[in-house]
Amino acid sequence: MSDFLAIENESPERLQRLLFSAAALKPLFDSGGASSVLAGKAAVLAFFENSTRTRSSFARAAAFLGMSAINFDAAISSTQKGESLDDTALNLGAMRPHLFVVRHREAGSPRRIAELTGIPTINAGDGAHEHPTQALLDAFCLQQHFGKLTGFKVLICGDLRHSRVARSNLHCLTRLGAQVALCSPPTLCLDGETALPAGATIATDFDAALQGADAVMLLRLQHERMNDPFPSPGGEYRSGWGMTAERAAKMQKHAVVMHPGPMNRGVEIDSVVADGPRSLILKQVEGGVVCRAALFLELLGKSVEQTLAKTLPS
Ligand code: CP
Repeated sequence: MSDFLAIENESPERLQRLLFSAAALKPLFDSGGASSVLAGKAAVLAFFENSTRTRSSFARAAAFLGMSAINFDAAISSTQKGESLDDTALNLGAMRPHLFVVRHREAGSPRRIAELTGIPTINAGDGAHEHPTQALLDAFCLQQHFGKLTGFKVLICGDLRHSRVARSNLHCLTRLGAQVALCSPPTLCLDGETALPAGATIATDFDAALQGADAVMLLRLQHERMNDPFPSPGGEYRSGWGMTAERAAKMQKHAVVMHPGPMNRGVEIDSVVADGPRSLILKQVEGGVVCRAALFLELLGKSVEQTLAKTLPS
């Protein structure tokens, strides 16, 4: 329990405990309150890749619990002078932070930092491997909206090949009892190394699959990870795999639409859907803060009860 690196290695029990803690923290967060339970602790947010939601959400979660966040920004760091990942980690680790939160373009980098420093480490996205806290917040969002995940049908559609979000969600949702269907253009299907867990299937017909789904999760076309950018993203991609108003109208009445962000509006999702009544997109972001706070508490050995006992006035 000293790290959170990949959902593939996690038990359903740990995921359920984290979701339970996040739900217990939500009323305090929603009320605008905070706690001093982690006062005196410090987390290094080591982002070697760009981020809007994840980095800010971890910073917000740290502030919510009274912990300071040290923002390491690779773009203005000594990595620009050629300092290696190992040296960067060892030097940041020498400042005795209590946690690392790491995003890096190479799969396995957060694990490398955890092993080198011995400091509890959270993977905030490593290459095309995993983005475990995104999956946790997605599961939280669905559980909050529908009350359960067991037997629930989630369709994940888009650039599966380059998506760490898809890999983490595949493992997270199936471990929590949901059924997951995966759909993509043929050139962007999962690589052969990702084995499908029980409860997961491949859907070849997006239009047919979305009619039976309780939730449809769209993925961003990740041009930055492609050797050959997808041809005609605004035309061919949108007509084959984009969530348009016409497709949203074919979904079940109760079904919802999700996207981890950042969105390519008009490509994988049209604005009328992203900003419409089926969208949980901003709820995903909102729930991320308490999910990450729950993880901080777990890794630093504090309970929700201790957190609520140290509530600060809002
Ligand atoms: N969902 C997500 O990881 O967004 P950011 O890249 O903005 O952190």
